[in-house]
Amino acid sequence: MAGDKSGENTMKKKLIVSNWKMQPTTLAEAEQILDLVDEYLGSLSERELNLVFCPPFVFTEEVGKILKTSHLLHQSGLGAQDISTDDRMALTGEVSGPMLKKLGARYVIVGHSERRWKLGESDEVVNKKLKAVLRNEMMPIVAVGEKTRDDNFEDFLKEQVLNTFAGLSAEEVARCIIAYEPVWAISTTPGARPDTPESALESVEVIKETLATALQSTALPRYLYGGSITSVNAREFLSNDGFDGVLIGGASTNKEEFVKILAIASKL
Ligand code: PGA
Repeated sequence: MAGDKSGENTMKKKLIVSNWKMQPTTLAEAEQILDLVDEYLGSLSERELNLVFCPPFVFTEEVGKILKTSHLLHQSGLGAQDISTDDRMALTGEVSGPMLKKLGARYVIVGHSERRWKLGESDEVVNKKLKAVLRNEMMPIVAVGEKTRDDNFEDFLKEQVLNTFAGLSAEEVARCIIAYEPVWAISTTPGARPDTPESALESVEVIKETLATALQSTALPRYLYGGSITSVNAREFLSNDGFDGVLIGGASTNKEEFVKILAIASKL
């Protein structure tokens, strides 16, 4: 991405995005997670990982400071979990793109299924948020995914992708990181089960074809998988060439489990 002067070691490394959601409840606990990650990074012989941390908004500034220290410095970036559609309007409770940028956020998650389905965020709102991220020169992590894997899931996904990316150029789509996150696989969904790389790649193909047809060109965004990633299944996704990384929710706030995933990623 033009202007991405990040501390990321290389774009080829698999990206591991931590979406902390509304956890942990205290900054002290957040620091404990990052301390353990930093200690693990310090045990590696090279800069091997490419991490993004998306903390709850109230911890953004402090987490951003920690990510600029020690072993985290060259292997991690700061992300936000949400953004306002507008940069300047009077909008109670919202946090704008310029504010996030100023706090040092380089990534912003938009379209997460919890915001779409639990908070009623429409495709149109997600599209505006996506444009706000791009306008403020941060990197969007755009979550898409069907609610149920039924006979209509491809049509559902196509429509969601078309609406979510409406009005974007191929160059703008190429700046996105697209996270395929089927709602039925998110750990907090009742009866959740992780997808398999094979079936998730079928969905990624649907997304790619939909975008290629709409844009009349092949944009090359990065693709992540998210949904019940743990140390049990991280390897199969991270070692699959079809994915550029993973988006991890629940397991990213369990520090021991998260470090196990990092150990898997660093040995690939
Ligand atoms: P999970 O969450 O890893 O807990 O399933 C993923 C996400 O919601 O982004």
